[in-house]
Amino acid sequence: QAFFRPILSAAPPSPTKRHTKISVIGTGNVGMAIAQTILTQDLADELALVDAKSDKLRGEMLDLRHAAAFLPRTKIIADVDYAITAGSDLCIVTAGARQMPGETRLNLLQRNVSLYRAIIPPLVKYSPETILLIVSNPVDILTYVAWKLSGFPSNRVIGSGTNLDSSRFRFLIADHLDVNAQDVQAYIIGEHGDSSVALWSSISVGGVPILSFLDKQEIAYEKETLENIHKEVIDGAYEVIRLKGYTSWAIGYSVANLARTLLRDQRRIHPVSVIAKGFYGIEGGDVFLSLPAQLGRSGVLGIANVHLNNEETQRLKASAATISELTSQLEI
Ligand code: NAD
Ligand code: LAC
Repeated sequence: QAFFRPILSAAPPSPTKRHTKISVIGTGNVGMAIAQTILTQDLADELALVDAKSDKLRGEMLDLRHAAAFLPRTKIIADVDYAITAGSDLCIVTAGARQMPGETRLNLLQRNVSLYRAIIPPLVKYSPETILLIVSNPVDILTYVAWKLSGFPSNRVIGSGTNLDSSRFRFLIADHLDVNAQDVQAYIIGEHGDSSVALWSSISVGGVPILSFLDKQEIAYEKETLENIHKEVIDGAYEVIRLKGYTSWAIGYSVANLARTLLRDQRRIHPVSVIAKGFYGIEGGDVFLSLPAQLGRSGVLGIANVHLNNEETQRLKASAATISELTSQLEI
């Protein structure tokens, strides 16, 4: 006997409402922060979690399922077997080693490349049409590794990149000017890491270009103040890792923000790690780093043409060279 007796002939589900499935690989600090933000923001009909540690994985799945009465309805599944990821629209990879206090992201490279050899092929096998969103560090080089291992077109392999650094940057500028960070348009591009580039020349607040506004008002600002704000962005992750051992909440929101733009075809511009050769004067081999990219349901739609001054262009090229050197030494 069915629990509900239908009172009208039940209407079939609307053919326009697609079932959306997201898989999160790695259910550590970062994977779980992403999973819970996806759930609270109602971004998926189905959420699949994969990790190598089966007890921890099942514990996390049950703990999230127990919040069902307080969340939008989402089917949550978890297994060490990648078969549960089949038919994903988006696969978010967070599995891997993380930095110890004081350690750089680039230091994690060899350990995480080995893991990616075991992770990317089954994801591709079970979801050949998915978008891969890479989060593990060093994110730019691992996005390149995921692209190579997947054989996907580059528009469907994206690194979370400096979407997070840009939020840190916008927070610091907003704090400095006592405005809302959502009214600050500002990008950090290049490596998600120590060689990132702050695009001071294109910052606007409420649509007002900030440096030319200060110039016009003859308000003096020290270049050193600007450099210090950028340094605070770079040091921010190190400080959080020193204080609490890892970063999680900001990357959780950053990735959920990207998932929304991709799956809901929002066509917003985000600084994320994409194949950069041929843009902003970056030449040489294939290198992934963050550029302001327009994202939608099919992944990367294009690269925005933000004005860079000479110094910013040189810094971006230096950042590309840092990543390119490490990428060229990889055996995949
Ligand atoms: P964590 O140690 O808490 O979690 C890592 C998880 O990966 C663990 O649960 C582990 O069991 C799992 N794992 C390891 N090997 C696996 C495999 N072969 N298959 C499936 N799962 C596997 O680490 P964390 O704090 O969650 O950080 C994860 C990664 O995210 C790190 O590389 C970290 O540097 C990176 N990170 C990136 C950003 C960014 O902005 N891109 C921000 C924060 C952290
Ligand atoms: C971040 C990580 C550590 O929070 O890459 O920036």
